[in-house]
Amino acid sequence: MQTVVSGIRPTGNLHLGNYFGAVKNFLRMQEEYNCYFFIADYHSLTTHPTPSDLHVNVKQVLAEYLACGLDPEKATIYIQSDVPAIAEMSLLMSMNAYLGELERTTSFKDKARKQPENVNAGLLTYPVLMACDILIHHADKVPVGKDQEQNLEMTRKFAGRFNHLYKQEYFKIPQSFNYGEALVKIPGLDGSGKMGKSEGNGIYLVDDPKTLQKKVMKAVTDSGPTEPNAPLTEPIQNLFTLMEVVSTPDTLQFFKDKYASCEIRYGDLKKQLAEDIIKFNTPIREKIEDIKNNDVYLNKVVTMGREKAQANAEKTVKEIREIIGIKRF
Ligand code: TYM
Repeated sequence: MQTVVSGIRPTGNLHLGNYFGAVKNFLRMQEEYNCYFFIADYHSLTTHPTPSDLHVNVKQVLAEYLACGLDPEKATIYIQSDVPAIAEMSLLMSMNAYLGELERTTSFKDKARKQPENVNAGLLTYPVLMACDILIHHADKVPVGKDQEQNLEMTRKFAGRFNHLYKQEYFKIPQSFNYGEALVKIPGLDGSGKMGKSEGNGIYLVDDPKTLQKKVMKAVTDSGPTEPNAPLTEPIQNLFTLMEVVSTPDTLQFFKDKYASCEIRYGDLKKQLAEDIIKFNTPIREKIEDIKNNDVYLNKVVTMGREKAQANAEKTVKEIREIIGIKRF
């Protein structure tokens, strides 16, 4: 059976981008593959959260994973820092990652721009740690959104370089994955760009109906199509992209036809979209609240996950140490 690994940083509540870019795939993959889904708390340290925020967010993401339908009986669900072998592997793998290539990654350049007062070494070596998350379990497939494509390329590069350097096919070369084939980029509703925690445009799984309605009704639009079959402008395309994931195909087609015939009323489009998002997220939001209050269950889940993830990770690190030449006489 093929192995799947993916994680989410606990930097806040999960939004629709996280759900449709990643979690939705996790749910189906846990039925078909040997899955490891984790909470990437080491990675969150690259942005220096306060300890209490980090702690709260780890619990929040765990409750959200479970509320979405991740099943600890089917997938191994764990917290990255519960498996210190990942940190050792990251040290070992960093010896074959080069400054130039790390400095050139888009996410490093973005973060260095966004937090110039905190361009720490963890930001630079972020792709090395991420590669280790994936390679430590010998993953075949990694379900992620489009924004992670470059990190996956780096993972493949590091895996291939290790194999080449030590003259063996030790690591598999993992592929990014989405059931819909192309990786997903869920946009924000502020006109352009992706939905993101740090973009401040998140539509969250925990948002109540009133908040959701407000967020959607505030979405940026344009002055409307002026001729039949006009191409979609970016803000309108963004509304349709969200509709594609939360509404029925008939609803989507209805509004696309209205746009094509210049009869569209953006107020109606937004009202429908808000309604469909509320329908989608209400059962999840209710479950999150229930699960968050159940510390005994949450602890049980991550303790179970830690044991399995740790055993697998320690085996890999032991093998890597031997390959590198760290062994007893
Ligand atoms: P993070 O925490 O930023 O996001 C978690 C997942 O959500 C996806 N995502 C999106 N997908 C589509 N549209 C969006 N607007 C959108 N925003 C976020 C991300 O692509 C991701 O799949 N580096 C990773 C965490 C990580 C990881 C790993 C992932 C650490 N180690 C190993 C996979 C495997 C990150 O920052 O994701």
